[in-house]
Amino acid sequence: MPSLPHLKRSGTATLLMVDDGPFIIRGGELGNSSAERAYLDPFWPKLETLGLNTVVAPVYWHAVEPAEGDFDWTTVDELLADARTHGMRLVLLWFGSWKNSMSSYTPAWVKADVGRFPRARTSRGEALEILTPFSDTNRDADARAFAALMQHLRSVDEQHTVIMVQVENEIGMIPQARDHCEQAEAAFIEPVPVEMLPRGADIGTWTKVFGDSPAAEERFMAWAYARYVEHVTAAGKAEMPLPMYTNAALIRPGTLPGQYPSAGPLPHLADVWRAGAPSLDFIAPDIYFPNFAEWADAYVASGNPLFVPEALRSIDAAANALYAYGKHGALGFSPFGIETIAGDAEALLAGTFDIIAQLTPLIVEHAGHGTMTGLIPPSDDMRAPHRVRLADVVLEATYERVPAPDLADGVINESGDAHGSSSLPAAAIVIRTRPDELVVAGIGVTLTFHSVEAGGDTVGILSCEEGRYAPADGQVSSWQRLRYLNGDQTHQGRHVRLEPGKFAIQRVRLYRYR
Ligand code: DGJ
Repeated sequence: MPSLPHLKRSGTATLLMVDDGPFIIRGGELGNSSAERAYLDPFWPKLETLGLNTVVAPVYWHAVEPAEGDFDWTTVDELLADARTHGMRLVLLWFGSWKNSMSSYTPAWVKADVGRFPRARTSRGEALEILTPFSDTNRDADARAFAALMQHLRSVDEQHTVIMVQVENEIGMIPQARDHCEQAEAAFIEPVPVEMLPRGADIGTWTKVFGDSPAAEERFMAWAYARYVEHVTAAGKAEMPLPMYTNAALIRPGTLPGQYPSAGPLPHLADVWRAGAPSLDFIAPDIYFPNFAEWADAYVASGNPLFVPEALRSIDAAANALYAYGKHGALGFSPFGIETIAGDAEALLAGTFDIIAQLTPLIVEHAGHGTMTGLIPPSDDMRAPHRVRLADVVLEATYERVPAPDLADGVINESGDAHGSSSLPAAAIVIRTRPDELVVAGIGVTLTFHSVEAGGDTVGILSCEEGRYAPADGQVSSWQRLRYLNGDQTHQGRHVRLEPGKFAIQRVRLYRYR
């Protein structure tokens, strides 16, 4: 019997193993209220056409435990059955104690019993609809329900339809940097736990050790949330140890803790979350901001694998996905509200997922070995070419975000004039499959190649082919040439060009001369 889905290190990357083979999630997250059979049913064909292999779907605490200790798995079982019918895997999101800071998905018996299930409070003593993380009663009720979910999955999901689980959703303290309920006030004047003490610091309260600031309050809250999530996660893993993570709402520029949902699993708190919740396999960003690469890079910087459970479903999703998979060997990428994606964004995402499906065997082979990269424009108003080293060659990329003029026929828009509106994504994955052999895939990127040594040999294009890898998703992928590219299509051998508005895969052989 194949082992449970699990994570495996490969070089500096992490692979998700499903049924003992590497698996790349081509995902989409359902809207919050779109996971029930009757509503979701008409959307499955669209999810299939998009090329998804995984649906990221919520499980609602209030629906599965309507009365304390009485579980109703109908919504979960229907989701599993329908995913299987449509050939999809699932990442389940546990909408438990917290969903976007709030506790709106807790069952009525939790919500209505504020005495037994205490709330976070503001400094003025007002109760928030946020369960306090300082209550063992809150924590244990959540952990019991989550453990029941995982126990249920163990009994109904032998075929591993569910491949990962997200614990809670976008935890964060708002509208103040910390909770002021009775239990929180007591914890705040206790000594900082040893795990959180900076090296060489004397034992003391949170204020004494970290100062009197929103940042110190955020650390205090992050520790409390992480300990709570650890308890819930460990209870679930004791039943079925699938890979588990928790996600973060990112910080709006110029805001302070309390003004943004603070203390969640953000990059500057990665150490707190790692120490406080060691049962989590990783933390994940929901990237809606335009500086996608910066946030993706920040999550990977601390050795965390990249999984993007939520991203803006704009046309840029197609480009950001290529960056995430190519640059960081991402476990997966998943725009939010996937059932409502439409128009160009839908067509472009399908294009990216088709590329990823074809390249999957190469991506899992090269992730974490320094032989693959992802390219997106570093900024909107780029003037200088973008130079990136890949093993023994330097790639110089320029990006075309505007539709090509009809008559250009492969010749780059040399005048620099804009044709049409600036509305296309531009991005590529480049994989060095052998010395001086590259697979270049994507849209709207032109590449030239250079020696890594200053004054080194000139790097020329020996051949360039456009084609497909087949069969998609298969273990063995063989290259099927559609055509040789040369002449106008390579600017008479000067460059490799992925046209704007059209996804393509090209296999390029380089040579060097003086
Ligand atoms: C982030 C949350 O995690 C989602 O559940 C959803 O509320 C989106 N924001 C809405 O944009």
